[in-house]
Amino acid sequence: MLAVTPMNMTPDKLTIASPDDWHLHVRDGDALKAVIADSARQFRRAIIMPNLRPPVVSVQRALEYRQQIMDALDQLGLGHLGFDPLMTLYLTDNTSVQDIEAISQSDHVHAVKLYPAGATTNSDQGVTDLLGRCDKVLQAMQRLSVPLLVHGEVTDPSIDLFDREAVFIDRVMIPLRQRYPELRVVFEHVTTKDAVDYVRQAQGPIAATITPQHLLYNRNAIFTGGLRPHWYCLPVLKRETHRLALVDAATSDNPRFFLGTDSAPHARHLKEHGTGCAGCYSALHAMALYATAFDAVGRIDRLEAFASERGADFYGMPRNTTTLTLVRKPYTIEEQVPFGKAVLVPLAAGQTLPWQVQPQA
Ligand code: DOR
Ligand code: ZN
Repeated sequence: MLAVTPMNMTPDKLTIASPDDWHLHVRDGDALKAVIADSARQFRRAIIMPNLRPPVVSVQRALEYRQQIMDALDQLGLGHLGFDPLMTLYLTDNTSVQDIEAISQSDHVHAVKLYPAGATTNSDQGVTDLLGRCDKVLQAMQRLSVPLLVHGEVTDPSIDLFDREAVFIDRVMIPLRQRYPELRVVFEHVTTKDAVDYVRQAQGPIAATITPQHLLYNRNAIFTGGLRPHWYCLPVLKRETHRLALVDAATSDNPRFFLGTDSAPHARHLKEHGTGCAGCYSALHAMALYATAFDAVGRIDRLEAFASERGADFYGMPRNTTTLTLVRKPYTIEEQVPFGKAVLVPLAAGQTLPWQVQPQA
């Protein structure tokens, strides 16, 4: 049988509707100014994580943060790109029904993020007992169709770090969705076959985001030839069987799996440290990383659905009408990039990817 090449691609070039990043950390201040251009050049929209210090806990604060992002883009001369930051609130034990009502009336705030207290970077003000303390808020979110974005790991120190996502499904995700079956849930940055299987078979409005690092690498990457902090993120990379399950889900035609980089910049000296911070910086080259992962299994034709269609459909937003072109042309990832007064090491720094984004004219 002859292979059919879709209209939008040749073997060396792929043009897709502009992608969106449904999970992104851009920080604030000088860090924001250092990283925001990387996302704005590739993505038309991004769900902006609220785990600043202090966290973004009100609509008013989210709108101020959004304005900071827009100002940073203007200062960089990138206002014309039309990048749209989609804001979120950080769920705490004190989030109120009024906060949820304010989200549902806002054009710019789109979701609430659950960080189990202590699970990851700046999560210490997160929820201590979701099912025990947040009933009224969850009811309001269900009623007003406000999505809950879930960092799905238990924080119980007695649970092995590599099992925390799987245990979260049993202890929190299943009871949560039984109690609020119409609540819209995004299981963020899934890392295990357990999570993929759960999302595939679950009833009701649930989806999952997948990062480039979890598609491209398994946990060996953290330990190859020495301890490699730039491959350390949370949830941590898992074994190869899990990576294969994620690749299979991302490149399938299941509409529940879509792109969310979880790009999470930390200065080089804070990653190369006795207690190195969790987070991979992938915004710089996110689409080249995803293209590499999809092409590696002969599924580059599925990249557009994953990157540019399913997320918008889940969030009930129009798909983008502008385009992005990727070309098969070797690209060696920068060893480091400026980050305010510090520097940032991108994911897979120094390695060469077979794909890159074609610079815009
Ligand atoms: O690796 C991570 N980094 N995981 C998270 O959940 C948070 C993020 C960050 O903000 O640095
Ligand atoms: Zn994140």
